[in-house]
Amino acid sequence: MTTASFPSLRMRRGRSAKWMRSMLAENRLHPSDFIWPLFVCDGRDCEQPVGALAGVSRWSIDRLGGKAREAADLGIPCIALFPNTPEQLRTDDAREALNRENLICSAIKAIKDAVPRIGVLTDVALDPYTAHGHDGLIDSHGNVINDESVEILVQQALVQAEAGADIVAPSDMMDGRVGAIRAALEREGHQNVAIMAYAAKYASAFYGPFREAVGSLGRLKGDKRSYQMDPANAEEALREVELDLAEGADFVMVKPGLPYLDVVARVRQAFGVPTFVYQVSGEYAMIEHAAAAGAGDRDALILETLLAFKRAGATGVLTYHALDAARLIGG
Ligand code: PBG
Repeated sequence: MTTASFPSLRMRRGRSAKWMRSMLAENRLHPSDFIWPLFVCDGRDCEQPVGALAGVSRWSIDRLGGKAREAADLGIPCIALFPNTPEQLRTDDAREALNRENLICSAIKAIKDAVPRIGVLTDVALDPYTAHGHDGLIDSHGNVINDESVEILVQQALVQAEAGADIVAPSDMMDGRVGAIRAALEREGHQNVAIMAYAAKYASAFYGPFREAVGSLGRLKGDKRSYQMDPANAEEALREVELDLAEGADFVMVKPGLPYLDVVARVRQAFGVPTFVYQVSGEYAMIEHAAAAGAGDRDALILETLLAFKRAGATGVLTYHALDAARLIGG
């Protein structure tokens, strides 16, 4: 406990020089803090810029090895993959999610062949595969049905694990999916495939640019409030995390990031488990637009927001700024 007071105690002494600030820093960013989300598209030698995400593109399978190498060379430990499924393959039953040669499975293999030293995380949810853009299956009234969705999500996770995914990340928010996926992975010999549960995922207005990137934006009927969490709630996030851990999640995630720092801090304090945070597409866009409008220095905005996650207790951050940040830290 601090007993001294001014003038014997002067807090500014600790801020008086760069070396002093560096010596006293409680938190630091390192490239190994970042997971880099990458969008995958069909075709060959293809880069499709995502309109709402300046500087972010979808890449065809043959270009992914190069991207993964760039990330690994910067010290980024893991890539998260998201597909833009061709239009004609999106159906009400999301069957393309179970195709062993779908974009995601081919992407996993391409990255594992080219850069075995980088981890691959895949999203378990049906929205890039459904004609209606929801993360699960819907009934005739348009309601997302839980248990039938879990069955197909389990199959999806197995298909991804067989293709070589290191971490499967259920982002669908169905009840009971983590336990069902864990049991199936154990049964099928995938003991080493980890589960990062999107445990506290909010029904957020910050996902818009992502939905453009995976092509679900125009097609989504209604909203996702019957399965994603109400932004009003924090206690409920702790229950969600507790449940997912009890069902066998290895790591948990809070999403979005900056508007939910209180949740990140509480989850980390309450459970002390690896706690990741997703700085989502709308947050990325917010920084890019602010910088482009001259409202702040881009590099400084990137590093300050990422550091805030570390200060709140995050183990790591999924961020579209991963490469920029790794370069900034290194340079
Ligand atoms: C879908 C999914 C979403 C994101 C990751 N997985 C969007 C959604 O729930 O609608 C959002 C990521 C981002 O905005 O960057 N299962």
